[in-house]
Amino acid sequence: MAEEIPVIAIDGPGGSGKGVITYKLAAHLGFHILDSGALYRIIGLAARNHSVELDGEPALAELARTLDVRFEPTQDPEAPLRIMLEGADVTKALRTDDAARDASRVAPLAKVRESIGALQHSFRQFPGLVADGRDMGTVVFTDAVVKIYLTASAEARAERRYNQLKDKDIGVNLHDLFESIQARDERDMKRAVAPLKPAQDAYVIDSTALDIDQVFALVLSAVQEKLAAVKDKLG
Ligand code: C5P
Repeated sequence: MAEEIPVIAIDGPGGSGKGVITYKLAAHLGFHILDSGALYRIIGLAARNHSVELDGEPALAELARTLDVRFEPTQDPEAPLRIMLEGADVTKALRTDDAARDASRVAPLAKVRESIGALQHSFRQFPGLVADGRDMGTVVFTDAVVKIYLTASAEARAERRYNQLKDKDIGVNLHDLFESIQARDERDMKRAVAPLKPAQDAYVIDSTALDIDQVFALVLSAVQEKLAAVKDKLG
């Protein structure tokens, strides 16, 4: 039964390091990955491809329900899955700030969220799942065995993104990045449906002053403790 398959929910705002932690944790445990943010990004992109308005709820919900999307594993921690939409590799196109902004515009629509419920649950496969998003622990997998809420100050997140883009020779302005992160936080936290917030039983980790190895060590010890407790309970 699906309920017996352990889920580790990793929620938090954009740029908090969820993606890399999800990848490292899944690789360490041999678990599957659900990048739920990618699903909202895909819906935004599909909407653009099919000239559907980003606030047209019924049309978007229909588009989301019938997405022709495939996820193929890669060895790249920054893009652990290759994403194919209608036969085209859209992995890179989905990582842009425009795609993030479009995702956060379609994400508040209840019918759109409902449409991808079953798709999200289909990622729950043996031996387990690490699910990355905004509402993994609060809405989609409320029975997750471990819930992590990973956060960092908006300044630190903007600076990380700035350095990532600079390394790739992509010219950006730190202040613009900071403003777009703040605007997305605001949309994600203040929406009526599935707002971004820590689950009541989440471990909250603030990574502002931590590097990725320190965050991973904290997450892994929380996960191992919980998984061991579950094993003991099952005998
Ligand atoms: O995590 P990522 O940056 O890819 O998410 C893009 C956007 O998709 C978020 O800003 C949010 O609006 C939306 N999202 C969501 N629920 C999730 C994952 C992402 O609403 N579980």
